[in-house]
Amino acid sequence: MGKGFPMLASEDRERLIAAAIDARQWAYAPYSDYAVGAALLSASGRIYEGVNIENAAYPMTICAERVAIFKAVSEGERDFLAIAVATKNGGSPCGACRQVLAEFGQDTLVIIADEAGHVVDEKSVRDLLPGAFGPPDLESKP
Ligand code: THU
Repeated sequence: MGKGFPMLASEDRERLIAAAIDARQWAYAPYSDYAVGAALLSASGRIYEGVNIENAAYPMTICAERVAIFKAVSEGERDFLAIAVATKNGGSPCGACRQVLAEFGQDTLVIIADEAGHVVDEKSVRDLLPGAFGPPDLESKP
């Protein structure tokens, strides 16, 4: 089992990390040369991969995590167990990606790995983005 996360089978954890590392080959990152791979495990058992896709108009760049989430949601998925993110140095998901992850659940496990598969951090979306603005905040309150 992953450290303290018994909800994710260790083979799923390893499979997810391997998929994120493998996906990095498809990153389109000619400007930063910082390839990011993500692999998102849905409750249905499917894995959706994503990579960062940069653009000559720099702000149009999209992160690997959001590509994976948007691919999954566009195919009908909304429940996610875990996402692995792989970079050369174990970089952490940006704030925008934390927010998009939070939309679909605070309990999703985020596994942050380097290119060798070493896990540098592993925590829930709740712990990565405490106090996230989410769907309940849009409900009318008395
Ligand atoms: N990047 C991601 O793909 N995910 C993150 O969470 C952080 C940053 C990408 C965006 C850009 O293509 C490159 O990494 C350098 O910022």
